[in-house]
Parts: sequence; C-alpha cells; structure tokens
Amino acid sequence: MKILVVGSGAREHALCWAIARSPLCKDLYCAPGNAGIEAEAKCIAIKSEDLDGLVKFCQKEKINFVVVGPEAPLVKGLVDKLTTAGIKTFGPSAAAAKLEGSKSFTKEFCLRHKIPSAAFKRFTHADAAIKYVERIGAPIVIKADGLAAGKGVTVAQTLDQAKDAIKEALNDNKFGEAGSEIVIEERLIGEEASFHVLVDGENVIPLASAQDHKPVGEGDTGPNTGGMGTYSPAPILNKDLTQEIMQKFIIPTVDGMKKEGHIYRRVLYAGLMITKDGPKLIEYNARFGDPETQVLLMRLKTDLLPALIACADGTLDQINLDWDRSAAICVVMAANGYPAEYKKGTSIKGLQKAGKIEDTQIFHAGTLLNKQGDLIANGGRVLGITSLGEDLTMAQKRAYAAVDLIDWTDGFCRRDIGWRAI
Ligand code: AMP
Ligand code: GLY
Repeated sequence: MKILVVGSGAREHALCWAIARSPLCKDLYCAPGNAGIEAEAKCIAIKSEDLDGLVKFCQKEKINFVVVGPEAPLVKGLVDKLTTAGIKTFGPSAAAAKLEGSKSFTKEFCLRHKIPSAAFKRFTHADAAIKYVERIGAPIVIKADGLAAGKGVTVAQTLDQAKDAIKEALNDNKFGEAGSEIVIEERLIGEEASFHVLVDGENVIPLASAQDHKPVGEGDTGPNTGGMGTYSPAPILNKDLTQEIMQKFIIPTVDGMKKEGHIYRRVLYAGLMITKDGPKLIEYNARFGDPETQVLLMRLKTDLLPALIACADGTLDQINLDWDRSAAICVVMAANGYPAEYKKGTSIKGLQKAGKIEDTQIFHAGTLLNKQGDLIANGGRVLGITSLGEDLTMAQKRAYAAVDLIDWTDGFCRRDIGWRAI
C-alpha cells in the first residue's frame, strides 16, 4: 500500500516509524515531516492544513490510506474532502472532530449523554462572563471554545486572572475566531489521567495506559506545556478505573456520536481528572497524544497499520493489540525558554551515539537539516528520547543515558520523567 502520514511532530515520527515496519506498507510519505522523519518516509513539502494540496497529492500519487496526525486539519474538514475523493483515511469527519474542536459542543454533549464533567456556562460577551465569575469566585477555569494551539485554557487562581483571560478572549481576540465564545468551568481537583482508545464507529479497543507530564518544571511545577515527557504503563489507570472509564465515558460517547449522526472513527483520547467523586472528563482529543504516542508505539508489538485501517473500515472487532510487558519512558528535549519565547536555529549534535543506547529511539519534533547537513532545532519541543526497559526505572535510566550523549547547549529537559510511577 501507499500511505501518507500528515503532520510534522514527534508523534508523526513515531507513527511513521511504526507504519514503515508494517509488511503492508510499500511506500510511505509524510507531509510535511521533519529531519528525523526523512529516515522513515519521503517528506513532501505540503503543510498539514493545506487541505486541497494534500488531496491533490493523494490523487496524483494514488495514495491508498492517509493517517492524519494533528487535529487542526480534521476540524477543517480534511477527512470529508479525502472521502469525497475516494481516499480512505484514519480520521473523523469535521462534524465528529468537534469533540476536540469545540469545547461547548463537548460540554453540551456530556450533558445530553450524562457523561461526568465539570459544571460550566458558555459566554460570548465579556460583561456577562465577568459578572458570572464575580458571583462564583476563583479558582475557576476559562477556556476558548475552539482550537487555540494548546494555549486556550486558563486555570485562574484569582478573580483578576479570570477577568484578564475573559477579556483577552472576548475583547482582544487573542485566539481569533476560536475565542469568540468561551466556556467557564468549575475547577476540578485530583490527579490527571489520559486514556486512549481506537474506535471504528462502533467497536472500541483501549490502548495501553500512558501518562504525560504537562508542567515545564521538575516535580510538575511551572507553566503547562504540550507535554515534557510520558511513561507507560501508568499505574493510576488500574483495571477497575479502566472499566469505569469505558462504561461512563467512552461507550456513551461512541454511541452518542453515532445516534446524533456524527459517527466517530479514529483514536479518541480522553483527558480525565480523577476527583474524590470519581473520574470527570476534562476534554476529548480527536488525535493521539504527543508524547503519549511515542511510548505507546514503542510498547506495541502488533502491526499498527491494520488496526488504523480497521478503524476506517469498521472491522476493529477483528483486531487484537499485543503490548510489550516492559515499560517505556519518553523524555522531551525542548529549546531553552519553552513554553515562552525560545530561539530557533541552534545546532544539535550527538544523536547517532545517543540512538545506539539499547532499546532507544529518538523521535524528532521541531528539527531540520541545514545546507551543510547539520541538525538544527526548529521548534519548542524538539526531540523525544524514548526507551524501553524491564520496568520504568530501567527505561528511565536508558532514556537519560541517551539524553546525556546529546550535545545541545540551547536545549533542556526535565530530569524526573516518570517520578509519579517510579
Ligand atoms: P486542555 O487544554 O483542555 O487540555 O486543558 C489544559 C489543562 O488545564 C488540563 O490538562 C488540566 O491540567 C487543566 N484543566 C482544564 N480544565 C480543568 C478543570 N475544569 N479543572 C482543573 N484543571 C483543568
Ligand atoms: N500530551 C498532551 C496532548 O497531546 O494533548
């Protein structure tokens, strides 16, 4: 088969790494890809949100199957366009991708289907929103309704922070159209857990457990990022909790989407807060987590590609996923300054040596090769050093042994990835 992966992050590198190993994959392309993905796939200079460019490329190259990494092209309707062109895709329609693309859609959906989630109210005018938070008080959570590149959520500790977040979204247009409506939510307290399943519209397969560290600083402190590292398995997701999440969240969601006429087929990633009253939904993502994908795919023993195709075909009931019993850790290396301002264009050395550490893969996010063929940092999160081990301690040791061989003075990582489980 001829496969196209859409995206350019370490998640897409991990997807390409796994798909390239499938006996079903004859030619693998990635649009636009990055310097690391070049080793697995032919990188094509088409941006992931250039929907017409992607469809044209698929038609010209007679691509058999498209695996979309990020959420933005889904919400814009890439799958609808590919389907019209007769090209099979791992992804939901724009209407089904609203589970990630619109917080208010998902909050109302949770109400309709009795899915536990934080109490909320929707607003389009700052005055009304401010009156509301003055009445309720802080802490309180302010969210832009649409996609805001992971920056649309403010967990406000004080009323002033809440009012600033409201004004930025509704008056100053900080998030553009995505912030023209906001959702104001009760703040949930507890430990966060991520839960991934594959869905074919009807059948559901839970993936192995994986947990990320969102805050930038050690001990899970400081501002939130896209994720500074992950570990799998995640002990918080024990058998009972997994069953409870399937019954109370995943099954009602898949059934509800079908009943409402927006069949959801793909991976569904639930962000949950395990509160003292049980799990509550924080958000749904219509994509694999990044860097969760890196640890999950290192542990997946079964061929990934047939499982992704089965999501599109409605044949997941014929798929069994086998997981390595060992553990995996992914340590993210980011440019100094991330998640605030950072420099691009700094030089990274030592990857070859680092990649030779046993059971270790280095997945690239923001990297490119310059004219001299040197590896250059080109983003905030830049590398995902991912290792397997008999247990998390061993995996962690290998990942940091590899990190220590990488020569990049303009980058940093957290030194405690996996601490909650270790
Ligand atoms: P999101 O962009 O929806 O993933 O939110 C980013 C982060 O904000 C989550 O991972 C949580 O840490 C936090 N968060 C979002 N909603 C809530 C909530 N209702 N209560 C507490 N924390 C929240
Ligand atoms: N690691 C968090 C996310 O992918 O949203």
